[in-house]
Amino acid sequence: MNDAVRAGITALGVYAPPKVVSNADLEQIMDTSDEWITSRTGIRRRHVAADDEFTSDLAFRAVEDLLRRHGDHALNGVDMVIVATNTPDALFPATAALVQERFKLRAGAFDLLAACPGWIYAIGAAKAFVESGQCRKVLAIGAEALTKVVDWDDRSTAVLFGDGAGATVVERVPEPYGIKSMVLGADGGGAHHLHMRSVGRCLPNGTPLGKYMAMNGREVFKFAVRVMDTATVQAVAEAGLVPDDISLFVPHQANLRIIDAARERLRLPPERVVVTVDEYGNNSTASIPLAIAHALDAGRVDAGDNLLVVSFGAGLTWAAAVITWGPWAEARRA
Ligand code: UT7
Repeated sequence: MNDAVRAGITALGVYAPPKVVSNADLEQIMDTSDEWITSRTGIRRRHVAADDEFTSDLAFRAVEDLLRRHGDHALNGVDMVIVATNTPDALFPATAALVQERFKLRAGAFDLLAACPGWIYAIGAAKAFVESGQCRKVLAIGAEALTKVVDWDDRSTAVLFGDGAGATVVERVPEPYGIKSMVLGADGGGAHHLHMRSVGRCLPNGTPLGKYMAMNGREVFKFAVRVMDTATVQAVAEAGLVPDDISLFVPHQANLRIIDAARERLRLPPERVVVTVDEYGNNSTASIPLAIAHALDAGRVDAGDNLLVVSFGAGLTWAAAVITWGPWAEARRA
């Protein structure tokens, strides 16, 4: 990388739909219990999009929040929009094109599908665009309406997921700030552990694809614990840091047991970890930006702090990065 140019996140906005479904609500509609969900996952409630609210709507709201927090100028000069999502409104046009039109941006636009790590993949792509000089400013969004694709008759997945969106601006930042490392990985050999049909009928190994999300939770759990460990260690080392340099660990919010295992491997105290899975469940590509926003709003992020983000999901895919936050950290919810 050219030492003179480093990309970083300069603005952030988030949205979670106001409708909340608690574990007690789920007890009314399926054979489950608050005790099971809380003890196995740490999830207490999740935010659910309205019937007529889709991924593009959630993305728009997150960008509006970004504009509220950072001012109308925050989108000036955006020349690329990336929406990381597993639940686009349509296979085409890209949800990113809908965002481009809604905010009248003079920009290219494409969707990115890398499952739950999608937002980290998106800021990774944005970093490459900016540091190569291809783009000046990238709007990288994670947005998800997952509750529309879970099988509400399958208690092993239905209780886990929620909806939401997070929008970030990635552009050139001065030293010592910016995205210091980027680890992106995939193992398609585990494709059959988490899948949903689009236009195909089955995976190459013959696993049939269905109209709803299907998951082998136990296998994904084992994979997640393993990869959260290796990817975080690699991201910290590639940033030239040691775990103790990490001010805040912001993992994908899928399961509190997975988060705790990763934190323990990094030997970080609980106060250096952001946990929002209790409030939102797993909202996939939106989970990390939403968690960062919570930390910002709680005054837990200062300029110069090293944030370690990590995620895993269908593919199987994983991603981790170290981001040194800039002085714009004080932009909080009004
Ligand atoms: O973003 C990536 C997305 N994926 C993930 O993050 C998933 C990672 N995996 C997990 O988080 C965990 O594997 C789960 C939370 C999905 C499941 O926890 P587990 O400890 O692995 O449970 P299990 O699948 O081994 O199931 C244990 C029992 C089963 O009953 P039996 O066979 O032992 O009698 C299930 O039928 O729990 C039962 N069960 C439930 N019981 C009440 C499964 N779902 C439920 C439920 N309520 N909602």
